Amino acid sequence: MDMSRGCALQALLIVFITGSLADLQLLPSPVNISMVSINLKHTLYWDPVMVPGNVTYSVQTQGEFESRFVSHYWHEIKNCWNISARKCDVTQEVSTSVMYKFRVQTLVGDRLSAWAELDPPFNRRSTLLTLPKVELQVSELNLVAQIKDYGADFTFFIFYWKKGGEDDVNCITTSSYDVSTYLEKAEEGKEYCAEVIAYARPINRNSSRSDTVCVQVQGAKQSVVFITLLSIFGVVLVFVPIVLGVWKFAYVLRYYCCPDEDIPEMLKEPNMGQRMLRNSHSSEDSEEINNVELHEHRLLENSSFIVKMPKL
Ligand SMILES: *[C@@H]1O[C@H](CO)[C@@H](O)[C@H](O)[C@H]1NC(C)=O
Ligand SMILES: *[C@@H]1O[C@H](CO)[C@@H](O)[C@H](O)[C@H]1NC(C)=O
Ligand SMILES: *[C@@H]1O[C@H](CO)[C@@H](O)[C@H](O)[C@H]1NC(C)=O
Ligand SMILES: *[C@@H]1O[C@H](CO)[C@@H](O)[C@H](O)[C@H]1NC(C)=O
Repeated sequence: MDMSRGCALQALLIVFITGSLADLQLLPSPVNISMVSINLKHTLYWDPVMVPGNVTYSVQTQGEFESRFVSHYWHEIKNCWNISARKCDVTQEVSTSVMYKFRVQTLVGDRLSAWAELDPPFNRRSTLLTLPKVELQVSELNLVAQIKDYGADFTFFIFYWKKGGEDDVNCITTSSYDVSTYLEKAEEGKEYCAEVIAYARPINRNSSRSDTVCVQVQGAKQSVVFITLLSIFGVVLVFVPIVLGVWKFAYVLRYYCCPDEDIPEMLKEPNMGQRMLRNSHSSEDSEEINNVELHEHRLLENSSFIVKMPKL
C-alpha cells in the first residue's frame, strides 16, 4: 500500500518534471536567423515560430570584448524586447568594426524558448554598398547634384564635367544626401554630366562608381528676352527721375535769373515806330512774292485737276 502510494507520487513527480521539460522543449527557438546589412544599416531577421498563442521575440547582443572576457554578459536591445515583429534594426548596437554576436528567443505568455544565435557573428565590414544614385539639376543656372537614398557615415565624391570636356573632370566631396549640393555656375546651352562614389568612413571602403547622369542647360533665347526687358525697365527707372530733375532745375533757374516781368517803357528801344514801318514795307514785298507763288501753285493744282477730269 505504502509502496504503491510512493510509486504514484514518484510517477506524478516524473510526469510533472518531464511535462515542464516538454513545455520548454515544445516552445521552439527561432530559426534561420540572418543579418541584412546594406549601406551600414543592419537588420536582423528570423523565421516565425508557429505555436498557438501570442508569440513574441526578444533579442540580445554581445560585442567581441564581452565574448572574450565576460561571455555570460549579454546586452538586451531595448527596441527589440518582447516584440511580435520578426526583424530588429540593430544599426545603433554596432559601433565598431569588430565581431558582434546576436541571439533571439521566443516568448509565449510567460514561457520562454532557448536562445538561438546568429551564425557566424556579424562584422559591419561585410555590409553591402549599393550603387549610389545621383540626380543632376540646373536651377537659375546653378548646377546642383542630389544623392539619393543613402545614409549617414558616408562621404560622397561627386565627379562632374562639361560634355565634350571629359579631360577636365572636377570633384566635390560632401556628406549631404537627399539635399542639393551646389557644384558650379552652369553655362547656357551646355550639357553637364556627373558620377558619384560613396565612401563608407567607418569601414574605409568605396562603393562602385554610379551610373553617369547628364543634364542639358536651357538655351539663352528666353533669358535674353527677359534680361533685355529687365534692362529697359531699369534704364527707364533710372532716367525718368534724372530727366524730371533736370527739367525742374532748368525751370527754377529760368525764374531765378530771368524773371518773367514786363519790361518798363523807359527801357524799351528807341525808334520803335520807324522800325515797325520799315518792317511793314518789306512785308508788303514779301506778300507780293507770296501771292505770285500762290497763284502759280493754284494753276498747278488746277492743271492737275483738269488732267484728272476726263478720266472721270
Ligand atoms: C531564411 O530566410 C531567408 C530570408 O530571410 C529566406 O530567403 C530563406 O529561404 C530562409 N531559409 C530557410 C531555410 O527557411
Ligand atoms: C493575443 O493578444 C491579444 C491582445 O494583444 C488578445 O486579445 C488575444 O486574446 C491574445 N491571444 C491569445 C491566444 O493569447
Ligand atoms: C511580453 O509582452 C506581453 C504583451 O505583449 C506580456 O503579456 C508579457 O508578459 C511580456 N513578457 C515579458 C517577459 O516581458
Ligand atoms: C575612394 O575614392 C576616392 C575618389 O576616387 C579616392 O580618392 C579614395 O582614395 C578612395 N578610397 C578608397 C579607400 O578606395
